[in-house]
Amino acid sequence: MVLPSILGSAFVHNYPDTAADIFTIDESFYKFMMDLPSWIPITGMRESSNARDRVKRSMGELHAAISATDRGELLPGGSNGPCDAKLLSEIREEVAPYATSGWAKGVSGAEPSLKLDSAGIRHETPLLQSAMLEAMRLYTLSTSYKYINNDFAVEESEVDKLVRANGGRLATESNTDSLRHSSRSYKLRKGDILCVPLGLQQRDPRYWEDESSFNARRFLIQNNGPHSKQDEPEYSVDYTQTHPWGVGATKCRGIKFSHEEVLNIAVAVLICWDIVPADPAAGWEHPRWLPAGGTAIPKADLRVKLRRRI
Ligand code: HEM
Repeated sequence: MVLPSILGSAFVHNYPDTAADIFTIDESFYKFMMDLPSWIPITGMRESSNARDRVKRSMGELHAAISATDRGELLPGGSNGPCDAKLLSEIREEVAPYATSGWAKGVSGAEPSLKLDSAGIRHETPLLQSAMLEAMRLYTLSTSYKYINNDFAVEESEVDKLVRANGGRLATESNTDSLRHSSRSYKLRKGDILCVPLGLQQRDPRYWEDESSFNARRFLIQNNGPHSKQDEPEYSVDYTQTHPWGVGATKCRGIKFSHEEVLNIAVAVLICWDIVPADPAAGWEHPRWLPAGGTAIPKADLRVKLRRRI
């Protein structure tokens, strides 16, 4: 059984049917892929759907427990970036030359159509890309695992020492004199596995001004300095400050593909749809986040209405 070593023996104790449930889900895998509803009278569908609900619930609780014990923090929500009307119109204007929408003849008459110029989107949309990076900074919680090849020691940095001395918060040097000489060092041994929670850096106030706020322009670099070249674009995007695709030798192998995919999908959604709150009186109430790993998960459903723009 691999489950205890991956998920912990407490998890297996609390949810002893998880392995069986996973096999029950697998039996209806293709039906789920076809998006068939759970009430459809096909043998095994209801059982698989119930098993899927149980696994989703238990995994949610596992994430909550890991986060609470290992990190001791809940994720702040950040501001409501996606409903900034001015930003939305600026991004739509920026991407408009690379997205041609209209009507095309389809099998059942005229159908809405959208053509994307992926290369144009990749090279000419700094604001969209900065906003994408900012969304990834706030809402991805990637973890990088490193296998230690040789013994070595890591010394605590000065700034980490100050933060530790001040109970995990930023501190000035003056109130931490007593800890000046208590530097910690961590010995890493060959064969150990090191876990780097990149999401922590992404929300650390030592690296980010107003770290919980969504600032779509955070990663823009203005290029009109005295040394800028004539044909240089006005803005470029700084991809070096945040690492949602991981770091080092195990860095994501799908960066180029997923980068392009995310940008294209974002452009398609922004061009094709207006998104408004389902309940206009409630407005854009941020549901906050569940503690989770990988990707931030909203605490509650956020119901919206999509209105077609083409
Ligand atoms: C926005 C989408 C994606 C994000 C944020 C993402 C993020 C990550 C992260 C954080 C890692 C671990 C990196 C580390 O250990 O430092 C990883 C690994 C990996 N990703 Fe992605 N990924 C994405 C999409 C994809 C796609 C579309 C593919 C394949 C087509 C892919 C293939 C891989 C592979 C093969 C690894 C393992 C690399 C290794 O261990 O050598 N990823 N990804």
